[in-house]
Amino acid sequence: MEILPRFTLEFTSLAINFFILTIVWILYGQLASLFRHFCSSNPVVSSTWADKYIGEPKSTVAAITDAYYRYSKKSQLFRVEDGIYVLPPSAFAEARKVHHETLSSSHAIDDTIFLNYFLGRDHADTILLPMLVKYVQKTPEYEGKGKEQILSGVIGRLVGLMFAAIDTTTMTTTHILYDLISNPRSMYVDAIKKEYQEALAKHNGVWTVLALGELKHLDSFIKESQRMHAVGLVLGARKVMPKAGYTFSSSPESPGSETLFIPAGARVTMPLQGVHFDPQLYTDPEKFNGFRFADDPVPSSQPSDKFMSFGHGRHACPGRNLALVVLKLIVIEFLTNYEYKEIERPADMIFGTARMPNFRAKVSIRRVRD
Ligand code: HEM
Repeated sequence: MEILPRFTLEFTSLAINFFILTIVWILYGQLASLFRHFCSSNPVVSSTWADKYIGEPKSTVAAITDAYYRYSKKSQLFRVEDGIYVLPPSAFAEARKVHHETLSSSHAIDDTIFLNYFLGRDHADTILLPMLVKYVQKTPEYEGKGKEQILSGVIGRLVGLMFAAIDTTTMTTTHILYDLISNPRSMYVDAIKKEYQEALAKHNGVWTVLALGELKHLDSFIKESQRMHAVGLVLGARKVMPKAGYTFSSSPESPGSETLFIPAGARVTMPLQGVHFDPQLYTDPEKFNGFRFADDPVPSSQPSDKFMSFGHGRHACPGRNLALVVLKLIVIEFLTNYEYKEIERPADMIFGTARMPNFRAKVSIRRVRD
């Protein structure tokens, strides 16, 4: 009879202790990060939402070796997760042309975790954007649906656009800044500065799209940074829509390639990492060569079987020209008005197939005093 009350008491005090410890632990964590924030004399270039990822990133080397190994079997599909297949180069040409209703990019993206995770269903009625609402109402899956579901669809698209535009640009900017400050000034910065100063003088001190288009060295530097540090090891997801699945025919451009059957509902992606580091496509692909593309007549925004940082095919990034204007202006502003200490290039962080700039690296950057 006595055992029960004693047990209850002990359990209660254990629970209280646990509760207090949890609070102390949370407060300690908050204080420590506040302390770190105020004490850090070297500002961090960028902190992305990747901070919210749970768990440790897979080592860059392991993830890259893995991606390479699989890509090297050139005519075979490989699977990165259940229901996600990576296309071999033999299927690229066909994948680019397949109609959206067969290989759908929006369905592939709607399915991925981030929309479901971030979509706050109960915030739906605080947003009203008639144009988007109409667009969502017209899509077959929302036909006859109620107000709440339609607004969810609208928010989903806004969140998708936000991710498509802001994160990618932020991460790419961070990579470019890391590449700038981790190479001797005489190697790239001096030539880039000279080029943009001359272009600005020629265009009467006004930056236009035309003037920015003349910056071949800066353009090349950005493209090389994107080649080595794209936002994913695989990119350009598409979902197989026909109930019977989809079969890629063997490619006449790749003798010996197999036909590839992908089941309905599965997603396919492109092996960006393998392509961008393929020694048959790029000389010394592991080496950063900022002016590799300086004499290349192909515009840096142009997706191809060799360069996929903006995706590939019908649904390649529609914001890429805007992104390049923004990136160039940021670099120009940075090199004109800021000074920095050179550092060793911080290693990327890989989460599954996503690549992030190192968000724990410390850099010393400050505005030049007048
Ligand atoms: C450096 C910056 C950027 C990078 C690296 C980037 C990269 C990408 C990639 C890899 C895709 C997937 C393409 C595919 O599936 O084949 C994509 C799609 C998309 N991006 Fe970008 N993007 C950038 C900036 C932007 C900006 C600034 C905007 C809008 C203002 C934007 C809007 C979109 C949209 C709407 C899509 C979906 C296209 C579709 O499915 O048809 N992106 N982007």
